[in-house]
Amino acid sequence: MEYKIAWASPSNIALIKYWGKKKDGVQLPANSSISFTLDYCKTTTHLRFVEGEEFAVKVSLDQIDTPSFIPKIEQFLNRIKSIFPFVMNGNYEINTINSFPHSSGIASSASGMSALALCICEIASKKGLLDTKNFFQTASVLSRLGSGSASRSVFGPLSVWGEHPEFEGSSDDYAIPYSEVSSIFKNYCDTILLVHKGQKTVSSTVGHNLVEDHPFAVARFQQATRNMSEIKSAFKLGDIDEFIRIVESEALTLHSLMMSSNPYFILMKPNTLNIIEAIWAKRQKDVVKWCFTLDAGANVHFLYPSEDRETAIQFIEEELKQYCENGAFIHDAVGSGPEKMTY
Ligand code: DP6
Repeated sequence: MEYKIAWASPSNIALIKYWGKKKDGVQLPANSSISFTLDYCKTTTHLRFVEGEEFAVKVSLDQIDTPSFIPKIEQFLNRIKSIFPFVMNGNYEINTINSFPHSSGIASSASGMSALALCICEIASKKGLLDTKNFFQTASVLSRLGSGSASRSVFGPLSVWGEHPEFEGSSDDYAIPYSEVSSIFKNYCDTILLVHKGQKTVSSTVGHNLVEDHPFAVARFQQATRNMSEIKSAFKLGDIDEFIRIVESEALTLHSLMMSSNPYFILMKPNTLNIIEAIWAKRQKDVVKWCFTLDAGANVHFLYPSEDRETAIQFIEEELKQYCENGAFIHDAVGSGPEKMTY
C-alpha cells in the first residue's frame, strides 16, 4: 500500500527554555517550557511511504539527497515503533523544504521532526489507528520523541510542554496549545537576527545531557517552574515589562548554564552581545518595549509588538543589521500551527 502525504510545520521559539531532560523515560523535560509558534519559518515535508516493502529511508532537503539526516530519522522511527509498529514495515521517501536557508543557523529539528510526525499520524489515521480527536496530541508525542522542542510546534499561537500545576492539562509526554494571553501577544513579532550562520560547535542534545550533573540543575528547574507561573500572569494581564524581564532572564540563564557546565562552552558570539547591548540602550533612551531571546546558538530573536513593526524595522536596519552575518535577518511573527498540504 502506497501513501503520499504532505504537511507544513512551523519552528517555535521558547520563552521559558527546555534545557535538561529527566533521567528516566525518553525525551521527557526536566522542567516545563512555553513557546511562541512561528509563522514564516517552517518545514514542508512530502512523504511517500510504501508499506510492505523492505525498510529503507531516503531523504532530501531542498531537492538534494541528504543521507546525513537518516540516522536521526531512523532513531525517531525506532522510538515510535511501540506506538505505531507499521512504521518499521516499509520504504520511506522523504522530501523536505525549509522556508529558511539551511545555512542560517536556525535549528530545523523542531519544524522538521514535527512535519514528519504529522505525516506519520496522517498515515495512522488513514489506517484507522488514530481518530481525529487524538490526532494533534499524538502528533505532539511523536514529535517529542524526534526532538523535545518539536512537541511544541504542533500547536499555536503558543504552546506549553511539560507538566506544571498551573497549566491545566499540561504533560511531559506532549505539548498543549496555549492561548490565555492578552491579544497583544497573539501577533507578536520576532525578527531573527542571523549573527552566525555556521554549524553550532555543540548540539542541543549534547548540551541537554550536560545538565544532568550540572551544579545548578535543581535551582534551575525550580526557577523555570516559577518563571512559568510568572509569565502566565504577564500573558494574561498583557504586562509587557514583566514579559521582558522573564524572557531576557531565561535567555541569559540558558547560556549561563552552558558556560557553567562541564565541559563548558559558549555559543554566543561578540555580535550577539552587541545586539543585546543595542536593544538595552534603545530601551533606555526611548520608551520602547522591545526585547530579545536566544536559542541554543548565536542568533538573536528580536521580539516586539506588531503595532511597533515600522519603528522596530527601522531600528533593525539602522542599528542591528550591522551585527548580522552579511546583514541577514528573517522577519517572523507568532503563527497558528501546522498545515496539511497536498502531495
Ligand atoms: C535551547 O529540542 O533541540 O531550543 O530534545 O535533544 O532534540 P532535543 O533538543 P532540542 O532542544 C531545544 C533547546 C532550546 C530550548 C527550547 O526550545 O525550549
